[in-house]
Amino acid sequence: MKILVCGGAGYIGSHMVRYLGGRGHEVIVLDNLSTGHREAVDERQLEVADLLVPSSLKAVFSRHSFDGVIHFCARSLVGESVSQPYAYYENNVAGTLNLLQAMREAGVSKLVFSSTAAVFGHPETTLIAEDHPTRPINPYGASKLMVERILADAASAYGLRSTALRYFNAAGAHPEGRIGESHQPETHLIPNVLRAALGQEAGLKVFGLDYPTRDGTCVRDYVHVNDLASAHLLALQHMESYEGAHLFNLGNGQGFTVLEVIEAARHVTGRSISYAQGNRRPGDPAVLVASSDKAQRVLGWRPRFTDIGEIIETAWRWHQAPRY
Ligand code: UFG
Repeated sequence: MKILVCGGAGYIGSHMVRYLGGRGHEVIVLDNLSTGHREAVDERQLEVADLLVPSSLKAVFSRHSFDGVIHFCARSLVGESVSQPYAYYENNVAGTLNLLQAMREAGVSKLVFSSTAAVFGHPETTLIAEDHPTRPINPYGASKLMVERILADAASAYGLRSTALRYFNAAGAHPEGRIGESHQPETHLIPNVLRAALGQEAGLKVFGLDYPTRDGTCVRDYVHVNDLASAHLLALQHMESYEGAHLFNLGNGQGFTVLEVIEAARHVTGRSISYAQGNRRPGDPAVLVASSDKAQRVLGWRPRFTDIGEIIETAWRWHQAPRY
């Protein structure tokens, strides 16, 4: 297949590109490099374009003929979305709409879309399945849910085949260590913990020790980026036989507390990692754990990194020698 990966210079997108390349697919990366890294991509695959500039998008579609699109471009920080909602609705909703229109004009009819556990807001159950009510509590989650709705409407109106994958906590890095997670600023737990292990993060804070969980800290479901990548390819292949708009939750089905992650990182790195007690971070639900039964049953997805230590180990290789 020839596949367009939008946001392919970013953290999850770059792992997707590597994964597809390793399986013989031809890949073009579309990225505006606002948060993505040129170094994460083979220059020959890169098309610098912006979803908010439709002419730049159309130019990419006129130069290539794609079998499908995997769309990772988004703003994705919960806290920032609360203070800058227009930026989130513009990038995540209007940008995606531009992409969908360009796909339609070019006759490309398969899309895999990055959605998020943030569509669920404060969950009512500990294991979250696809039919759990969606009540996002921040503009980031709301923007992703709006796109899910657009995709359902596009399936009925235009026959678009789409799959929205709601990731829980993407984590880890390619085991070879040449690509990895590098955000500026970094807000995610595992990179912050590993930077603390390296002495680069003096102020590691645990946001809230008074949650109703086994040790008082938030429980999250960490899923390895390469396992996310494999789910995307399975989703594209599934859409060859099935029309409509599909939804899947992607996680490990196992939750770890913030303190358990820190302990696992101490074990992996062999370093001491100290932290301070911080206040709860606004918008953080106590527990977010996916039921991935549907993805396993329907797509045949089998996550390979099920152990938190193994996931952290791959991230640790990257953080000791990041290339960007
Ligand atoms: N945390 C800390 N200290 C830190 C960083 C994080 O204690 O320095 C805690 C957070 O409070 C949270 C957990 O570690 O309880 C994980 O936090 P992350 O920032 O790594 O991830 P989130 O769970 O906040 O975010 C993820 C995705 C978002 C998505 C969200 C759904 O990155 O895109 O899940 O709620 F929206």
